[in-house]
Amino acid sequence: MDADDTTLMAAAREVDELAALLEVSQAMGSSFELDRNLRKAMRSLSEHLGLTRATVTVVDPETKDLRIAVAYGLTRQQIARGTYRIGEGVVGRVVASGEPMVVPDIGDEPLFLDRTGSRVDRSDVSFVCVPIKLRGEILGVLSADRVFSEETSLDEDVRVLEIVASIIAHSLSLYHAYMKERDRSERLRGELRGRYSLPNIIGDSDTMQEVFRMVGKVAATSATVLLRGESGTGKELIANALHYQGLRPKGPLVAINCAALPENLLEAELFGYEKGAFTGAHASKQGRFELARGGTIFLDEIGDVSPTIQAKLLRVLQEHTFERLGGTKTLTTDARVVAATNRDLEKMSSVGEFREDLYWRLNVVPIFLPPLRDRPEDLPLLIEHFLERFGRANNRHVGISTEAMRIMLGYHWPGNIRELENTIQRLVVLTDGDIIVSEDLPMHLIMHGLESPDVDSLTLDEEVEMLERARITAALRQHGFVQSKAARALGITPRQLGYKVRKYDIEA
Ligand SMILES: Nc1ncnc2c1ncn2[C@@H]1O[C@H](COP(=O)(O)OP(=O)(O)OP(=O)(O)O)[C@@H](O)[C@H]1O
Ligand SMILES: [Mg+2]
Repeated sequence: MDADDTTLMAAAREVDELAALLEVSQAMGSSFELDRNLRKAMRSLSEHLGLTRATVTVVDPETKDLRIAVAYGLTRQQIARGTYRIGEGVVGRVVASGEPMVVPDIGDEPLFLDRTGSRVDRSDVSFVCVPIKLRGEILGVLSADRVFSEETSLDEDVRVLEIVASIIAHSLSLYHAYMKERDRSERLRGELRGRYSLPNIIGDSDTMQEVFRMVGKVAATSATVLLRGESGTGKELIANALHYQGLRPKGPLVAINCAALPENLLEAELFGYEKGAFTGAHASKQGRFELARGGTIFLDEIGDVSPTIQAKLLRVLQEHTFERLGGTKTLTTDARVVAATNRDLEKMSSVGEFREDLYWRLNVVPIFLPPLRDRPEDLPLLIEHFLERFGRANNRHVGISTEAMRIMLGYHWPGNIRELENTIQRLVVLTDGDIIVSEDLPMHLIMHGLESPDVDSLTLDEEVEMLERARITAALRQHGFVQSKAARALGITPRQLGYKVRKYDIEA
């Protein structure tokens, strides 16, 4: 290459740079959607400057976590994977130091983690990474790959990317300010609307708001409350709220599951017994109604009690009196009664299985907890809540991909919130990444997701790929990522499996 060629190339490069910078600054101002603007900007960088993977990673202003905001040249899965632990590598280094970093050959750089798993052939690829800074604060990192060649100077790339980073920095800070203001006004609006809330109980749906309103109304009274609802809908949780929002939150909250004990033991537990009342009664013992004095007694699964106990409960509810087993002294209790059941008490009364007078005594204030499938609008909130809770318990920060969220929203959750809670807990513990993607979900959810009407928006190929990917991931996991075994289980050859693992970018 002679001197003239070099000059020409430098001039051409300068034209490209100017074009890229112009487009980037136009893109960053083009809409209120940060992601869209950034995507446009990254595409311009890639097109004009031949950078293969242009990525913006942002520091979350609140949590200080790093996540890829946009990336040009990466698939969605690769992006989802890149959202975690990225801080350990080159990007993290740049955030920490605030200085650019160049990796001339990523194959030689141990710091280079390739969390996105996107670089199959790592030879001859350079990586350039510059901080996005504003007034000394690091807002994120701009990085790009370049296939190495003699003509391009990495210093030149650093220079251009630094200019781009400063353009991005200004939009980012505007964007953060805008989001903060939006959150604030939404919060204010929520307060004005008078939404009810109870600590750690989630529900923004109208039906749950109605539940909270009822709880607010009756908690501070001594009225008996009957909680109805399918298994896992939160009856026990509401019973707790009734106690702690009630008149005597410092008093005892005594819970008993009436379905868990045989009749005579339940009777002894509820009402207590005197020494010698039955074989084995070596000393007298207080019952739960005594223990609950000055507080609340929670009679769970009230639909499962025998006629004898029903009669005794009726008396406690009517007269607040009872005797210990084997005792003659009449005792009193002032405990507030909260009962719960998922059984159809009306039907049981009509066939004589449940005393009607007891039913009316219990049913002073009925509160119905709706099944989760009837209030899908609560799902995103609940999912966030459990992710946060189990994330904190496990010392990690776990998010969820939109696809996984979509599948969860489409599921009918027969086990209600308990099932959702268990599912998220398992996912938080078992998922490798910091983002739960659809392949992480239990098989029955994925299958359901495939059948749900939303899938109509997928093409047949996409749907087939989704299923294929899910089956392969599951098989690999089940066989400890030994591809030959997984292939046998799937009925395909190891070669076919290897091909698909690469195609879908499944991490081994
Ligand atoms: N609205 C809610 N917000 C947050 N967590 C909830 C909510 N409702 C229920 N949960 C959680 O779901 C799980 C199941 O709730 P709970 O035990 O109260 O259900 P239940 O109606 O008593 O079920 P069962 O009839 O099977 O005893 C609990 O871990 C509870 O903390
Ligand atoms: Mg319960």
